[in-house]
Formats: sequence, C-alpha cells, structure tokens
Amino acid sequence: MLDLTPKKSDLEPIEIASRDEITALQMERLKWSLNHAYSNVKHYKQVFDKQGVHPDDLHTLADLAKFPFTVKADLRDNYPFGMFAVPSDQVARVHASSGTTGKPTVVGYTKNDIDTWSNVMARSIRASGGRAGDTVHVSYGYGLFTGGLGAHYGAEKLGCKVIPVSGGMTERQVTLLEDFKADIIMVTPSYMLSILDEYRRQGIDPAKSALKVGIFGAEPWTNAIRAEIEAAFDMHAVDIYGLSEIMGPGVANECVETKDGLHIWEDHFYPEIINPETGDLVADGEQGELVFTSLTKEAFPIIRYRTRDLTKLLPGTARSMRRMEKITGRSDDMMIIRGVNVFPSQIEELLAKLPELAPHYQIVLDKKDRLDTMTVIVEPALGVNDQSGHSAGEQLAQIIKNTIGVTASVSVQQEGGVERSQGKARRIVDNRN
Ligand code: DLL
Repeated sequence: MLDLTPKKSDLEPIEIASRDEITALQMERLKWSLNHAYSNVKHYKQVFDKQGVHPDDLHTLADLAKFPFTVKADLRDNYPFGMFAVPSDQVARVHASSGTTGKPTVVGYTKNDIDTWSNVMARSIRASGGRAGDTVHVSYGYGLFTGGLGAHYGAEKLGCKVIPVSGGMTERQVTLLEDFKADIIMVTPSYMLSILDEYRRQGIDPAKSALKVGIFGAEPWTNAIRAEIEAAFDMHAVDIYGLSEIMGPGVANECVETKDGLHIWEDHFYPEIINPETGDLVADGEQGELVFTSLTKEAFPIIRYRTRDLTKLLPGTARSMRRMEKITGRSDDMMIIRGVNVFPSQIEELLAKLPELAPHYQIVLDKKDRLDTMTVIVEPALGVNDQSGHSAGEQLAQIIKNTIGVTASVSVQQEGGVERSQGKARRIVDNRN
C-alpha cells in the first residue's frame, strides 16, 4: 500500500497545536455555545433554569458536567424545528435521521455551519490519505441522510473531483469505479463488501482497481473487515465517525498513517465519556457512553448530547486531538441495518396499526451475501384466521419499507410462536457476527 501520510505543512495548525492551545480555544467556544443555546433555544433555557445552572457558571471545561444532558426524546418533543437557534431564513439546509418512533430527528445548518462541516470533512478525507486532485466516488446515500452530501461537500472543499453515485445498483458501482478510476471511495463498510463480491462475480481483480483509500463509517465494523478489504483492494481502509445530531460524518476520523482509533475534531466537538447508568463522568481511558457538545454550530447548537455509542477516549497520536476507540456497541437498542438506523419502537408502532396482528414481536438480524437482513416475527391476533394474518404480515412489510426505508421480511407464526418475555422482552436477535 502507498504511504499517504499528509505533509505537516498541509495540516491546519490546530490539528498539531499544543493541548493548551486546544483547551483555550475549546473554553472560549464552549462559553459562546452555551450562551447561544441558552439565549436562543427555549428548551435549553428551560432545562438550564430547572437545573439551576447558567452559562456564566462555566469557569473551566470540567464545569460542563454541571449542565443537563440532551437526549433524542428532547429532539422529538421539539419536532421539527423547535431546537433551532436561528430564524428560519438563516437555515441553509435541513437533514434528518431516524427517531425512536415515526417522526425523524431533524437538524439544521446555517451557511457557516455548512462551511464548518465541509472543513471538518475535508480534514477527515486528508487524514485518510486524500489530496486535492483525487477522484472521490461517494456511495453514501444522498438525501436527508447526512452521509452523501456531507462527503460530497468535504471532498469538493479539499479540491477533489466528486462522483456523486449514492447507494445501490452494485453492478454499476463497479463499472463506474473501473471506468472513472476513483482514487477514493466513501461508503458503508458492509456495502463495500458487496462491491467486493461484485468485483469477483464480474471476474475483475479488485487489487488492480485505481482505489487507494476507502473511508468507511455510519455503522460499526471490525479490524477483521479492515484487513479483508485492504488485502483485496490493496488500499487503505480508514474509519470515519459522525452523527446527524452533532453534524453528520466528519466528527472524528482515523489517520491513515496510524489507524489507531479516530481523532475527534475537538476544536468543533467537545467529547465527554459517562457511565451510561449513572450519568457520571468517567476518566479518559475508561469505557463508557460518548457525549458531545457542539462548540461552533449556529443553527442547531447541541449541549451534552448522549450519543448512546460506547467507546473510550485516548490521548492524541498522529494529531494533538484526542482519539476515540472504534465504537464497540450502543447503550440503547438502536440497530443499524445496511446503514439505516432502526429502533424496535418504530416497528412496534407500525405493528400496532394492524389489528389483525398481536402485539408480540421479535426482530431477527442475519447476514445474506454479506448484507444485513431483517425478519420481523409476529403472530395473528386472537381469533384471526391464517389467511388474514398472512396478508397483514405482507402489509406490515410494505409499511416498514415505506416509512422506515428498510426491506424487512415478516414471518407470521402460529399463536404463541413469538418468544414470550420472562421479564424484559428480547426484541432483537442479532446473528450477524
Ligand atoms: O451515520 C453519519 C455518517 C455518515 C457517519 C457517513 C459516517 C459516515 P446517523 O445516521 O445520524 O449519522 O447515525 C449515527 O451511526 O451514533 C453510530 O451509532 C453510528 N456510526 C456512525 N459512524 C460510525 C462508525 C451517520 N464509524 C450513528 N463506527 C452513530 C460505528 C458508527 N458506528
């Protein structure tokens, strides 16, 4: 594999600044962000007042722990635009991700926010080994999902040529990669494995492709998958992390020269790790739930957002900013199916719309041809005959596809066929690993 370590002179000075410089900048920006949220978002004023804290109470970075957390339900309760801190005419873009129920979580960006996002994405692509002049094939989905447009604007900002392919049509992905000779692909790791299989199906040697780097995220993946992709394509496989509520992709990224965890772009996103049960802070190096506070966002400032992602903070290596270890799991029940976030509560809500089906259900996740599959196991309501039960099952599959956007097969069992709870219901059976 090529040595793609960026030149020091190509980095932004803050990437290799001293820790003192970084914390001084964080302190200044954190004060601004708390004030901005408190003054312009009713929700933050209410919850800060209720907890008896004011932005002026922040004297050190550690004081942030006095402030209340923000959780997904807060965003749902303020749907769609209640958490925005600027007037509507200053919002340049809106994205959305899955909520825990029918309504999505909505986020917004000013023109400056889009610039900040493009910058951190450009920084992420450069850390991954990208350079101005590279051709970047984007297979993350375009649309309300932040993956496609986030990658697109970042690659343009870095000075790359962007091929905005979006997801799907795997055969065509291979054709375009071969014909346009992309240097970099940005895609979910699971879809990259399908692309690899398609290369083999077409009898093309992936190692001969022009690809030098893959930038993979939006779902958890292991170092074993990294090794497989790197060997097959003779390219670097680098991890990118982010979430809509904080910005989108480009909150943290690995450096190609070390691949030892993801450097958090701490000049824009302030990380904390908490014990998910007690909410107490844990020390760097200890495992817990990742919490983020935005430092520069205008349209959608976010204070102490509980990501539910489990990881630990580690000191900087290739950059001065701290690293997070690869995400090892979540502290809630969100599933990621082919890159789409899905909560069991969403399925439950849809199931409740069909009176022919009983409220018992279980979701089974498997891998087929390396892609995630989801089967929802249900049973007919009391007194409903088999035929009506089965047609209700087909309807359920259809409304899951239409409202959540994932393909699910629904298996309608006999009465009593769904495992009954002995306490906490086991809603998800994940056979993917
Ligand atoms: O998945 C943003 C993104 C797009 C990241 C493209 C990277 C590349 P959401 O749809 O809001 O945003 O989902 C965010 O996905 O809380 C994690 O649980 C998971 N996730 C994202 N990146 C990684 C990663 C985008 N590198 C949720 N490793 C997050 C593990 C990841 N999980």
